[in-house]
Amino acid sequence: MELIQSVRECQLWRRQITGSVGLVPTMGALHDGHLSLIRAAVRACNHTVVSIYVNPTQFGPREDLSAYPRTLERDLSALRNLQVSAVFLPEDREIYPDDYSTFVSEGELSLRLEGQSRPGHFRGVTTIVSKLFNIFRPDYAYFGRKDAQQLRVIRKMTKDLNYDITIVDCPTVRDINGLALSSRNQYLTKNEQLRAAVIFRALSEGKELFEKGERNAGILRKVIEARILTEPLAKIDYISIADDVSLTEFEGEITADALISLAVFFGPTRLIDNLNLPLKI
Ligand code: PAF
Repeated sequence: MELIQSVRECQLWRRQITGSVGLVPTMGALHDGHLSLIRAAVRACNHTVVSIYVNPTQFGPREDLSAYPRTLERDLSALRNLQVSAVFLPEDREIYPDDYSTFVSEGELSLRLEGQSRPGHFRGVTTIVSKLFNIFRPDYAYFGRKDAQQLRVIRKMTKDLNYDITIVDCPTVRDINGLALSSRNQYLTKNEQLRAAVIFRALSEGKELFEKGERNAGILRKVIEARILTEPLAKIDYISIADDVSLTEFEGEITADALISLAVFFGPTRLIDNLNLPLKI
């Protein structure tokens, strides 16, 4: 497994390999969710490259950039067991030198949901992901369904900018209580972690009701909200029931495949999660 720190070395590495390349972009603090993406890449591709980079441009000024968990040694030892060909570990100045001035932004999907709560977040994500796409020219790139909006924004960017890359989405990995794995779960106390299981319970209740025939988005939102509010530690940022493709909010009847997605605070920690509501099962 090669450890690469500079863009130039990545480009040289890319030139001398043959066969398919799978890219798994990460911000490190790897958990089983990341490892499932990496395993999927290793199964499908001749070479898997993992990037570990806490990308500053996707954090807002009052967000957790400096506190974001950094567990490099542990991450590398997890990767050594997985037949990864290369790991890209750039410093900030390699990605954003002092005179850096070019950004990529998607102008529609990225403005909704997370885009409302975290202005500028997706501009940072699409900028770093497009840089990684240009640096590695992968055939496949792997993203988790847990970041449902990110996945859709990246697919749209890939299409709009004509990247010849297949975006592969992998299922959300959950802990035994249903809490979606996230590097940010490390911020939760044991108690908060147990109580945050209410998020998946609420989403599942919404989905069950939908499967029994409830098509009113307002009713589903209320049921999910009521379940989350049974947990006094939870503070809801948003609960959305939106068109699965356009992420346009349903106000009344759900008339197309939908996505329930939400963001909930437990203390200062903001957690996101989602479930699909396919109209025809
Ligand atoms: O999902 C993440 O960890 C990040 O948003 C990503 C895709 C690695 C870009 O920094």
